Amino acid sequence: MSTSSSDERTLVLIKPDAVSRGLVGEIVSRFERKGLRIDAMQTRTLDGDFADQHYAEHVDKPFYPPLKAFMTSGPLVALVLSGDQVIDVVRTMIGVTDGRKAAAGTIRGDLSLSNRENLVHASDSPDSSKREIALWFPELG
Ligand code: CMP
Repeated sequence: MSTSSSDERTLVLIKPDAVSRGLVGEIVSRFERKGLRIDAMQTRTLDGDFADQHYAEHVDKPFYPPLKAFMTSGPLVALVLSGDQVIDVVRTMIGVTDGRKAAAGTIRGDLSLSNRENLVHASDSPDSSKREIALWFPELG
């Protein structure tokens, strides 16, 4: 695996549903086989304040209270991945938000039947990647 100055980073969360279903290895394996590099990886259980910070743009939305309950319900695995165009590459690999609509071959399309319990979160832009990595892994900044 090569690195270059054009490599980006993205924050990925393997959510509590994936951990409780025993899918961490399956999901990490897909990222590794794609050729992405794991720069950081840690199991954490979120408290409500941290969930609010991570999902700052969603806290006022009607789906947020059950999302917050779900995201704080048990351990998750946070990763920083890097590679060429990693933000877009990972978004393509995980599929659209709703697992029922995500394309076959994507993580959500193959493994999720839910709009909320959709196994994975990934940064959606360079700005959100920068913000999320600073929040989760300040030591990488
Ligand atoms: P994620 O990529 O982590 O970003 C926001 C999360 O909110 C999303 O994945 C889903 O888990 C959840 N979410 C987004 N839209 C809805 C919705 N309409 N109903 C329930 N959960 C949602």
